[in-house]
This record gives sequence, C-alpha cells and structure tokens, in this order.
Amino acid sequence: MEKIFDTDKKIRLGIWGLGRGSAFIDLCSKLNVEVTAGCDLNQAMCDEFHKICPDAFVTQNEDEFLAQDFDAVLVATYFFTHTRDSIKALNAGKHVLCEVTSFFTPAEGVELVEAVERSGKIYALAENYTNRFVKKLWQDGLFGELAYAEFDYVHDCRVLGYSTLFYGALPNGNYAHPWRSWLNFHYYCTHSLGPVMEITGTRPVRVSAPPSDKNLPGFLPTSEMGSMEPSFVIMSNGGIVRNMMGASTCDSHVRKIWGTRAFVDLTQGDPTVAIGQCGHGPKLQLSRKRDELFKLSSRYGHNGGDFWVIYDFARAILFGTKPAWDIYAACDATLTGIMAVKSQYSGGVPVEVPDFRDKAIREKYRNDNFAQEHLDPKKIFPEGQDTTETEKFSQLIIKLNFAVEHIIYALDGIKFYPYIEDASSRLTVQTEVRRLIQKLSEYTQIFADAHALAEKYPESMAAKALVSFCDSCYPEKLANTDALLEELKNWLISADINNN
Ligand SMILES: NC(=O)c1ccc[n+]([C@@H]2O[C@H](COP(=O)([O-])OP(=O)(O)OC[C@H]3O[C@@H](n4cnc5c(N)ncnc54)[C@H](O)[C@@H]3O)[C@@H](O)[C@H]2O)c1
Repeated sequence: MEKIFDTDKKIRLGIWGLGRGSAFIDLCSKLNVEVTAGCDLNQAMCDEFHKICPDAFVTQNEDEFLAQDFDAVLVATYFFTHTRDSIKALNAGKHVLCEVTSFFTPAEGVELVEAVERSGKIYALAENYTNRFVKKLWQDGLFGELAYAEFDYVHDCRVLGYSTLFYGALPNGNYAHPWRSWLNFHYYCTHSLGPVMEITGTRPVRVSAPPSDKNLPGFLPTSEMGSMEPSFVIMSNGGIVRNMMGASTCDSHVRKIWGTRAFVDLTQGDPTVAIGQCGHGPKLQLSRKRDELFKLSSRYGHNGGDFWVIYDFARAILFGTKPAWDIYAACDATLTGIMAVKSQYSGGVPVEVPDFRDKAIREKYRNDNFAQEHLDPKKIFPEGQDTTETEKFSQLIIKLNFAVEHIIYALDGIKFYPYIEDASSRLTVQTEVRRLIQKLSEYTQIFADAHALAEKYPESMAAKALVSFCDSCYPEKLANTDALLEELKNWLISADINNN
C-alpha cells in the first residue's frame, strides 16, 4: 500500500524504553512516523536499537534524549513511572503516546490530566486490544445496549517476573523484575476492560473485586501477579463487565458481549454473533472486509492492534482528530484498575470510579496516594550477599521455570493418560515423556543449583520462590532420578504397546 495518510508531513518519534517500545519500530514508517531517537537504561537494548535504527540518536540518559529535536515520545518505561515520564516528555514539548497504564495512583492521575490540559499536546494511551470492526457494527446499533460482558486477560507471566520481555535474564541477575515481580494484576486491566469501553461507548462507574490469593508456585511470596483476579465493573449505562486478569494454569482471552439485541463472541478473532434477541437464535460467523489497510495492519503485533495504536496517534497529530484513548478515556480505564485493588483490599466492597473530566471530582483525589505496597525488587537477597553467587539467580530461575513446566507436562500427562482417547492428545503426552527422558540429567542439575542457592539464603524472597518451584515439582521422584528414568522408559513401552 503506497500511502495511508494524505500528507507528506512526518512525525519524528523518540522511543523511551526499548523493550516493548521496540515492537513498534517496524510499522512506524508506514504511518508517516520516523523513529529518530531511543533511550534505555540498559546498554544492551540501546545497542540492539542502534542495529535496527542506525541513523537514530540513542542514549541511556533521559535528559539527553528529551533534549533532542523530535515531535513525539512513546513512553514504554516501567509500569509505575509512566506519570513522571509522560509529564517530563510533555514539559519538553513532545506529544505523548503512553504504554498501558497511564498512572499508578489517583493523585498521579490528577497531576497527569492537568499536565496534558496545560500542554496543548496530544496524549494517547497505547491500548491495543480493540476490535474496530465490531466497534463499527456496535455503533450502527446492531447489538442494542451493553447488558453484560466477559473479558479475560489471563496471561502467563511467571518467567517475566525474573526476565526482560525479549532479552532473557535481567541485567542485574540478583534482582527481580522492577514491576512484573509484584504488581497486583488488577492494575493491568486495560486489555480486557478497554475493548468493552471502546466497542460499546460506555465508561466504568463502579468496581468490586474479591480478595484472591491462590498464587502459583515460583512467584515471589508477596507477588500479587500469580493468581486469578476477577472484578465486576458497573458501566455508565448500567451494564456489567466481568473483567478477569491473572496468571494461572491456563491462559484465557475470552471476549464476549451480550447486547440487549444481539450477542457477539470475539474470542477467536473473527466474530460470531447470535441474533434474534433470544437465547436460541441463529449463530452467524462474520468476516471483516480484507481491504489493503486491514491486510497491512494484520502483519503487526497483537492481531494488528499495535498498528492501530500508531495509526490513531499519528492521525491525531497530523489532522487534529481526537484519539480513541485520549487522557480522559485513559483515566477511566486506569482508575478502574486502581479502584479494583482498593476494593480487593477492603474485602470486595464496590468502589466508585471517578470521572476525571469533572474538575470538582478530580479535587477529591488530588491527594489520594493509594497504592499497592510492594517489595523492593533489589532486595530479594539480604545485604552482604555474595554477588558472585546471587547474580546467577535470574538465569537460574528462568531455567528452573522451564524445567518445572516440562517435568509437570510429562508426569501429570501420565496421570491423565488413562482418561485420554484422542490420538493427538496421547501423542502430546508421549512426546513430553520422551523429551523428559532426554533432558532429565540437565534438569536435575538445575534443581541441584536452585537448592544450593536457596540454602545459602534460606530466609530470602528469592530462596522462597526457588523452593516453592522445587517443592511443586515431584521432589520425591527427582530425589531418585535413576528410578524416575526407569519409570518413564517403562511407561513409554506400555503406552506404545497399548497404542498398537
Ligand atoms: N500493550 C501491550 O501489549 C504491552 C505489552 C508489553 C508491555 N506493555 C507495557 O509497556 C511498558 C514496558 O514494558 P516492557 O515489557 O518493555 O517492560 P520493562 O519494564 O521490562 O521495560 C521497561 C524498559 O524501560 C527502561 N527504562 C525504565 N526507566 C527508564 C528511564 N528512566 N530511562 C531510560 N530507560 C528506562 C528499562 O531499562 C526497560 O528496558 C510497560 O508499561 C507495560 O505495561 C504493553
């Protein structure tokens, strides 16, 4: 496709935070955006960025970065520094596209809205999970009003508590990830709530979230990331959204909306609708028009969602249109996450989601610094630690994570096997068992290393995460690997015989 926007004007973009931030580089040039600068504290990420954008300025120093002459900043820094970083970028005269979410406390939200209003610059949240096709059908009135929706963003991120998004172990191996190691998942509510807001044109007004503490093993003991975190959100038309975030035993991206006229299920990509204003009406499979723009967008991340984020932001700068995720919509979504945490900490009571468009309402939250208390990710080992040992932690727990997963695939697979008739499921279990036979001695060494490190600092957070991983994964069998190997081989022979 030759040209998307009817102008030759270019937007010069600086990317601040080169993990997730780098995911947008490839698509920018299609949308009149030139990436002219990058910034990351991590030198390895700066080096990688330089390889992709050799003509762009790159630095570890944010002041040097913001002093460069460019038009807009993509803020993709740590989850909890977005307010500070966005305001700094606005004050440097840049438009801001901010990764999710916009702020961490209600008080920061007030500060940010005011900074955006003062600046006269474009501010947009980089929310990327909407379905534009269904949004259009909804606006055409095909579904009636929002009655109820169920949206999930259940996403395994255990290993990301100890690693970077694309670059493996953390640069400081004796730290945990600055926010993925502890964040309450309710804060990360926009990928599930956001699409409902955008499609139905409603905003959240109240949220309640029950206490939930069933963390998977392998998370740090105080982490609020490893459990299921459902909330109920009452929307401005009285409709209800069951918004589910979490990292647990099965990723889930359920996306269903019951309108008062028709129902739509977006879970599989192309929507299925149920029509007839009744429970047993025909189900129809819809297809969006595969035009050139759609085909182009589909080449990029999150089913094209990343493309539309930059499209919407660039269009706002080039033509003055209102971004779908302007500061006020960003506040609605971000505050719902914050208020869900507040509700959860108070036993699940409903909490109002304030509307920051209203200056009088904002005033009530100006000094509201409510926030999750969390660990300092630099303190997962005690002071005085032997860093030559503890710096191995990040690599080690990443390896342990994969070893635990593989061992449980095989050994739990064997337990389920008598109940499986489907040939492909049987083959999956057999393949996992064969793989475990090959890898067992390597895995045994990883477990031994994990136990050795944990025993040196038994009271540390890091040790507790290592031990909870090890304890969850057949410790009695791993204590005698010769016997386990024999057992696996015998099982394979009997599985093969039964198959024939
Ligand atoms: N929309 C999505 O699909 C999606 C996916 C992943 C991440 N995200 C969001 O993107 C943001 C970044 O996520 P990530 O996965 O890259 O995680 P991350 O927190 O590991 O990465 C942040 C990066 O910013 C750098 N950084 C932090 N403060 C800095 C500073 N002051 N100066 C220079 N560099 C700094 C860090 O070194 C790091 O490389 C998060 O807010 C996350 O919520 C969104």
